[in-house]
Amino acid sequence: MNSLIDTFKLSNGVEIPCIGFGTWQTPEGQVAIDTVKYAIKTGYRHIDTAAIYGNEKSVGQAVAESEVERKELFITTKLWNTERGYETTLRAFEQSMKNLKLEYLDLYLIHWPAIGEEGAKINSETWKAFEKLYKEGRIRSIGVSNFLEHHLRSLLDTAEIVPMVNQIEYHPGYRQQDTVTFCESHNILIEAWSPLGTGRLLKNPELAEIAAKYNKSVAQLCIKWCLQNGTLPLPKSITQQRILENTQLFDFTITDADMKTCNDLPYIGGSGLHPDEIDF
Ligand code: A2P
Repeated sequence: MNSLIDTFKLSNGVEIPCIGFGTWQTPEGQVAIDTVKYAIKTGYRHIDTAAIYGNEKSVGQAVAESEVERKELFITTKLWNTERGYETTLRAFEQSMKNLKLEYLDLYLIHWPAIGEEGAKINSETWKAFEKLYKEGRIRSIGVSNFLEHHLRSLLDTAEIVPMVNQIEYHPGYRQQDTVTFCESHNILIEAWSPLGTGRLLKNPELAEIAAKYNKSVAQLCIKWCLQNGTLPLPKSITQQRILENTQLFDFTITDADMKTCNDLPYIGGSGLHPDEIDF
């Protein structure tokens, strides 16, 4: 990857720009509008939002007001947990599209797997609705988020279409290697949410030492590390200088030895959320 317009190719041939602009915890309103517009101006072509973030309307407004053509942008949103199921998913999708004011979506994700006794059945019904929307051409690609290997295996028992993406928490110290290996073997692209461990990695001395060798920040090192491991990072920031900084990483390569050191780090911090333990 040499620039923000370089892409990963999904299993259905759709091209997805290699760094997505994350908007989790970006407040709806002027902050979201201004930061998304600034990100697009800076060169990001891929914006990641979700119904639960509460900022779909602002993301849509920023996209509409940006000077970049819609077809040059890649927009993702996600189905929230309370809307799982066939009919409810179809309704939630329409609501997201209304919020975003888009005619088509590039990627729709099931935000978290349903768990418990009924979990597999609910995920399967939700996925049927995703498949319908995909076949109708409303969405260019479909996927899941926070699915571990066992959630994916049971989804694949009834799925007609294999998810094209699995968006998981992924950063140094938290590689979720079982899930990643399973996805690689099924041609499912891993997107990395919180590539900076929600900011908790930034003061880590080992990462700081490695980053300094390249004259880069820890944030840049972590984002580049995702790319070099074949995953698509989704860094979030509402600070202009950081939004820009998080793109300035195409002029260095992390050595194999430093990649190994980062790969082998123990858990440093992160969101603390586990798909089988969430209560929301
Ligand atoms: P802010 O949005 O206030 O700029 P993650 O993407 O892992 O969830 O991390 C997001 C957090 O990391 C946010 O708190 C964000 O702060 C912060 N952040 C993003 N980019 C940088 C950067 N380049 N340097 C320092 N902090 C950053």
